[in-house]
Amino acid sequence: MEKVSVIGMGYVGFPLACAIAKCGKYETLGFDIDEKKIDMIKARKAPVDDRRASDDILTVSLRASSSSDDLKDSDYIIIAVPTPVTEAKNPDLGPVKSAVELIVPYMKKGQIIILESTVNPGVCDEDVLPILERSGLKAGVDFDLAHCPERINPGDEKFTVYNINRNIGASSLSGVKRAAAFYRSFLDEGVLVNEMSSLQAAEATKIVENTFRDINIAYVNELAKSFEMMGLDIVEVINGAANKPFAFLAHYPGCGVGGHCIPVDPYYLIEKAKKIGFTHDFLIYARKVNNSMPGYTVGKLSSGLNELKLSVNGTKVGLLGLSYKANVADFRESPAFQIKKKLEKLGADLLICEPHADGYEDLDRILEECVAVVIAADHNEFKQIRDWGNVRLVVDGRNCLDKEEIKAKGILYKGIGRN
Ligand SMILES: NC(=O)c1ccc[n+]([C@@H]2O[C@H](COP(=O)([O-])OP(=O)(O)OC[C@H]3O[C@@H](n4cnc5c(N)ncnc54)[C@H](O)[C@@H]3O)[C@@H](O)[C@H]2O)c1
Repeated sequence: MEKVSVIGMGYVGFPLACAIAKCGKYETLGFDIDEKKIDMIKARKAPVDDRRASDDILTVSLRASSSSDDLKDSDYIIIAVPTPVTEAKNPDLGPVKSAVELIVPYMKKGQIIILESTVNPGVCDEDVLPILERSGLKAGVDFDLAHCPERINPGDEKFTVYNINRNIGASSLSGVKRAAAFYRSFLDEGVLVNEMSSLQAAEATKIVENTFRDINIAYVNELAKSFEMMGLDIVEVINGAANKPFAFLAHYPGCGVGGHCIPVDPYYLIEKAKKIGFTHDFLIYARKVNNSMPGYTVGKLSSGLNELKLSVNGTKVGLLGLSYKANVADFRESPAFQIKKKLEKLGADLLICEPHADGYEDLDRILEECVAVVIAADHNEFKQIRDWGNVRLVVDGRNCLDKEEIKAKGILYKGIGRN
């Protein structure tokens, strides 16, 4: 059996390693520097919140290790480590580079190294290959580097690591063919594995997908602000426009963009372009608009309280949801933390409910004690609230509630671009 090692047992690497192990064609190893994650996998528990992978790990043969010696004799090594930004929003290739450095002593002829982490065009050629070639082996001759950007949307039950189409580029023509054949060997039958002309083209594809989302969300966030002033409901308008599916793709406004991808990846392209003398104004502006949304949401709260003749300072406010999207325990880059910080600064007496984490307030207590609530994540628990207790103002940061139902109870409703 050929051996596959996956480096990084996170939201991307763990379900992927399970899928590879599940096909039964490879000896599969999951590697991470985080020993807690490795211990969990050894105990057949998923180290990330992923329903399908949590089932898979109970049945598949996946070894787990945090000892780099176990990477020895791998025919394929896949890297799925984070690609964050620094405080100043500069790309941080530290985790990618250190994962690549880790494998240099274990490289061998005929091997394929695959980067799945999201990076800007040029990272494979300029940052990854020079490190790999320290092994004394030549890319495209002795080994191949491939880039197959992961497109998984954690929590999505329909589109999974098994059935999402793939784009792949490599350091040689034969390399891209071999790497594509490897992916086809474990993905569902019929899934497209698109062989691209270069590593850079594959890198660019993923960045384009995510900047497309960021820009579209920024567009509707901006519309939310102006339509609200015109007395229009943005959700009604977007749903109207979306009944022309051949020319309009619905995106919805909200209290901010979170997660490890959309609010991060644009900075990789912005910085790359800057280095070659190009300013991506459009991307920079989209980031600015989306970064303004937590502040806008807090503004909705303070204007709502003002209508009730109350101040933020000293008022009991419930913050509902800390994760960046519905029904998941993923808190990375979540706008809820910006909202929390701003509310604390304004002196709100804050109670927080997060059903997907331990140690937070009970929802019933919040509805009983708070005058106002801000919904920052559209978890099912919040969408199902029918008895709002003593709440007099609801700021619906995800436009996930029936506003007429809330208003009919005499409660002040403020959404994002809809009142
Ligand atoms: N989460 C998503 O929705 C998603 C979707 C598509 C693509 N991506 C991209 O995939 C990549 C990984 O994202 P993720 O969400 O899985 O991250 P994650 O933080 O969930 O997991 C990354 C794992 O890598 C480990 N790690 C970090 N440095 C390491 C090193 N040097 N050696 C070994 N292990 C190391 C960490 O301990 C962690 O367990 C990123 O580039 C991300 O942009 C993420």
